Amino acid sequence: MRLVLQSTLLPILAMALLLGACKQATQKANQSTVKTTAPASSEPWWKEAVVYQIYPRSFKDSNGDGVGDLQGIISKLDYVKSLGIDMVWLNPIYASPNKDNGYDISDYQNIMKEFGTMQDFDALLKGFHDREIKVFMDLVVNHCSSEHAWFKSARSSRNSPYYKYFHWWPAEKGKPPYRWSIFDEKGDAWEYNKATNSYYLHYFADAQPDLNWENPQLRQEIYKMMRFWLDKGIDGFRLDAIAFCSKDTTWQPLPAEYNGQWGMYYASGPHLHDYMQEMNREVLSKYNVATVAEAMGDVERVMKFVAPERKELNMAYYFEAIDFGYLPNEYKMPDPKGYDFVAWKKIYAKWTEAFAQKGWGTIYLANHDQPRMLTRWGNDTPEFRDASSKLLSTFILSMRGTAFYYYGDEIGMSNIKFDKVEDYNDIELLTNYAQVKAKGGDLKRFLEGMKISSRDNGRTPMQWDDSDNGGFGAGKPWLKVNPNYTSVNVAAQEKDPNSVLNYFRKMVQLRKKERALIYGDFKLVDAENPSIFAYTRSLEGRTILVLLNFKAVEAKVNTEGLDLSKAKVLLGNYPNSKATNQLKPYEALVLSL
Ligand code: GLC
Ligand code: CA
Repeated sequence: MRLVLQSTLLPILAMALLLGACKQATQKANQSTVKTTAPASSEPWWKEAVVYQIYPRSFKDSNGDGVGDLQGIISKLDYVKSLGIDMVWLNPIYASPNKDNGYDISDYQNIMKEFGTMQDFDALLKGFHDREIKVFMDLVVNHCSSEHAWFKSARSSRNSPYYKYFHWWPAEKGKPPYRWSIFDEKGDAWEYNKATNSYYLHYFADAQPDLNWENPQLRQEIYKMMRFWLDKGIDGFRLDAIAFCSKDTTWQPLPAEYNGQWGMYYASGPHLHDYMQEMNREVLSKYNVATVAEAMGDVERVMKFVAPERKELNMAYYFEAIDFGYLPNEYKMPDPKGYDFVAWKKIYAKWTEAFAQKGWGTIYLANHDQPRMLTRWGNDTPEFRDASSKLLSTFILSMRGTAFYYYGDEIGMSNIKFDKVEDYNDIELLTNYAQVKAKGGDLKRFLEGMKISSRDNGRTPMQWDDSDNGGFGAGKPWLKVNPNYTSVNVAAQEKDPNSVLNYFRKMVQLRKKERALIYGDFKLVDAENPSIFAYTRSLEGRTILVLLNFKAVEAKVNTEGLDLSKAKVLLGNYPNSKATNQLKPYEALVLSL
C-alpha cells in the first residue's frame, strides 16, 4: 500500500525523523542535561502561558443546529476561566464551505455563518479579555478556498487581476510536472481549469488552491488582513501549514534527493524565511502578540522559524514525538507492536535541549489533527482512564515549552473508534480510505488502524453532562458524541474533588506557582527505563522531580544521585501519594527535592 504520503503534515515528519536523525539524538540525549539561563523578569508572557485549544465546531452548540458556534463558546466562558488557562486558540472561524472544516477560507474577514456573526466574535473576544484570557486565531494562508472571491475571479480568465494570486501551469505547455497532493484522491496537486485552459496548484484538496506568495501584492493583502484581526485586539496567530507557502516556481521535476518525502521538499521553498521576516517586519513587530508555527522537519529547520535573532516567529510545534510509533510507509497506521518508549522519551529530551539553547518550543499531546491523547498515549480502559489522563496532564504541564492543551482532554475524553467509514467526516480520512480502496488495499485493517489515529477521534462534541448529546446541543450533532458521555462529562467531574478535571486544574496552578516548571533546566532521569518517564526541572536551587509511569504495571525508577528522603509530594494522581521510586500503574508524582 502506498499510503504514507497522504495526510496532513504529520506523517511526513515521522518519516523524516525515522531516517537516522533520531538515532544520533537518542545517543546524545542519554546524558543530556539541558542548561538554561534563569529567566530575566522581562520574559515574554507567552512563555508562561497555558493554552487551551477550542475546536469551535465541537465545543457547544447554542442554537440546536448540531454545530458548535461562537455563542456556544460565550456560554462557557466561565468554565474556560475556571480551568486556570491563560490563552485560547480557536481553530478557524472564518467564512468557509468547510471542505476541511474551516481550513478552506472563502472570506478572511467574515465569520462562518454556522458559527455566528462578527458581533458574536467581538463579544467573544471581549468575554475572554474581561477574564484575562488571551485569544489566538488560526492563520491559514498557504491556501484559501476555491470559493474565495479571489479564486472565483482568477479561474474565470487569465486576465483577471487575481489570476496571479494563485499558481498556474498553462496547458499549452503540456501536462504540468507532477506535484503530490495531500487531500487529493488521485494524489495530484494540479487541477485543470477549463475557462483559463490552465492547471492550478493545490497541495491540499482541490477546493484549497495554494496562494501565490511569490506575488508581493498577495503578501500585502495577507498582511492587511492580519492587521484587521490584530487591530481588533487578538493576541496572536497559529500559522497553519506555513512552511509550504514559498514555492519553487522553476517547477523542476520533484527532486530525487527527497526520496518521496515531498512534504519536506514543499517545506524548502526558496523564500520561506524571507517572507516570515517580511511578515514580522511589516506586521507582527508592531503588536504585542505571539505566534506559533506549524513547522516541520528536524531541529535545524524548525529553529529557523524561532531563533530570536532571525525575527520571524515565537514558538513552533514539532512533529517528531507526536508522529512516533506509526508503521513506516503507511498512512498513520499504528505499529501493532506498540512504540519504543525509550526512544520517544529521548525525542522530547532532544527538542527540549535544542529549545533551551535557542528559541522556544511547545508541548502538546493532542490537537484537531490528532486522536485523543488518552487513547493514543494513555490507557482508555475504565480501569486506567482516570490515572492515565492525569498522568498525561502532569506530563504536558511539567515539561519545558509553552503548554498546548486540547479541549475535552481535561475530562479524559477518548477516541470514539468508528466502525464504519460512513461515520467519518474528515477529508483526510476519506481521501485515504478512497486511496486504499482504489488500490485494492485491506480496508478493514485500515479502519482498525484509524480507530487509534484518525483526526475525527479528536473532534467529537464536548461532553458537558449526561443529558442527550452530552449537553452539546439540542440538535443532531454534526459528528457523533462519544457514548461514554453518560459517565465521562464535565458536570460529573465538577462534583468530584478527585476528578480528572480537578486534577488538571491543580496541575495548572502548580505550574504557575513553580517557575522551575516553566524555566527550569530539564534533565532526563534513568533515561533507559522502559516504563517510567522521569526528569528533573531545576531553577535557582529549586529541584522538582517528575516521575511518570506510562505502563499498566508497577515499575521502579532508578533515582541514584537524587535524595528522595526529604522529598515533598507537590502533586500525585493516587490518593495519599508518597515520595517513592516505586510507582503504581500510570502513577504520576511531582516531587520537590
Ligand atoms: C494543517 C491543519 C489541518 C489542515 C491542514 C490544511 O495541517 O492543522 O487541520 O487540514 O493544515 O489546512
Ligand atoms: Ca449551532
